[in-house]
Amino acid sequence: MPKYRIALMPGDGIGQDVMDAAQIVLDRLALDAEYIPADIGWHFWRTEGDALPQRTLDTLKTCTCALFGAVTSKPKEEAQAELAPELQDKGLTYRSPIVRLRQSFDLYVNLRPCKAYPGNPLNLRDDIDLVIFRENTEDLYAGVEFHPLPQEVRQALEAHSPPMAAFKDTSSEDIALSCRILTRAGCRRILRRAFEYAQAHNYPSVTLVEKPNVLRETSGLMVREARAIAAEYPDIALWEVNVDAMAMWLVKNPQDYGVLVSSNMFGDIISDLAAQLVGGLGFAASGNIGDTFAIFEPTHGSAPKYAGQYKVNPIAMLLAVRLMADWLGETERAQALERAIAGVIAEGRVRTYDMEGNATTLEMAQAVAERL
Ligand code: NAI
Ligand code: MG
Repeated sequence: MPKYRIALMPGDGIGQDVMDAAQIVLDRLALDAEYIPADIGWHFWRTEGDALPQRTLDTLKTCTCALFGAVTSKPKEEAQAELAPELQDKGLTYRSPIVRLRQSFDLYVNLRPCKAYPGNPLNLRDDIDLVIFRENTEDLYAGVEFHPLPQEVRQALEAHSPPMAAFKDTSSEDIALSCRILTRAGCRRILRRAFEYAQAHNYPSVTLVEKPNVLRETSGLMVREARAIAAEYPDIALWEVNVDAMAMWLVKNPQDYGVLVSSNMFGDIISDLAAQLVGGLGFAASGNIGDTFAIFEPTHGSAPKYAGQYKVNPIAMLLAVRLMADWLGETERAQALERAIAGVIAEGRVRTYDMEGNATTLEMAQAVAERL
């Protein structure tokens, strides 16, 4: 029996294009693994009313980890309109399957390295090496949202929060509420992982990106927990930066930062910013990592306008394969893959359209595979 069972979930849009590219590299990487295809994405929402069918969850429970491409998500009304006629009026509501996966498997770390590979014409500078730890299960993504505001919720807020008085003349019909929920345990575990990583990889600092001056309770909790954990790592400096300022500093002096840690929403935003510093979404991979299971993916979405054209850059997906190999403990293969990717970028002969070349998605993957 192979050592690993790895689920492959291409999803839709360019998810399929980049998964085909991943397969070229996986073949060459020759992990002792069997690969199990699993359904996810817009097609399954339209035809079955569920973008993440139960059979996929069942498959994932039997797997070591998974590789994921991308899925299309649309706002509530548009999603409703695209359901098959027989599924209309069944009270089905669309929720992003990747958010559901992160929550149902408690994949609380979203690991997003953003490293500039020399020779990439899209780098802001060549000395950027950021690793973002984004909390992946809480915050505004918890799904605790209301519109209209239910009467009991309104009464409780009015009773407990004086600033609610500002809304006293607005009808509940006209108020939308999304709850930013952070827990002490949630803060602790993401902070812990960030510090452990900084220590293991010799980063001198961990930068906490929050907004405690305004979000006194949620960001405040994160800051208090960060200071407590930082005290256990005397060799690593804790830098505290407000998220708005961080957006500015990341553009101005990205080379000054290493490990960044943040809550879910701020982490999402700064990681797209950081991705652009090192070439854009075609270069940004992420790992959704829990204590016993993980799902690796490029951070880009399904880019519908390019779907099926085999035109997009597969590097983000190949870097996701590299993160997966690392997580599996296949350190040599992970390093070899990173060297191969860096080599193709440095050589600059095979480039996709985003790098102003005309290689296809699969040609780029082939070039990487040939260097393995
Ligand atoms: P997107 O990431 O799909 O694409 C934005 C643009 O970035 C593309 O039009 C393209 O110009 C560029 N791009 C993306 N990936 C690239 C690659 N590999 N190589 C070269 N260029 C690339 O974001 P967008 O357009 O906001 O969302 C499209 C759909 O994807 C939406 O339905 C959204 O909900 C979904 N999405 C899914 C994600 C996931 O599956 N994890 C993450 C983000 C968005
Ligand atoms: Mg995002």
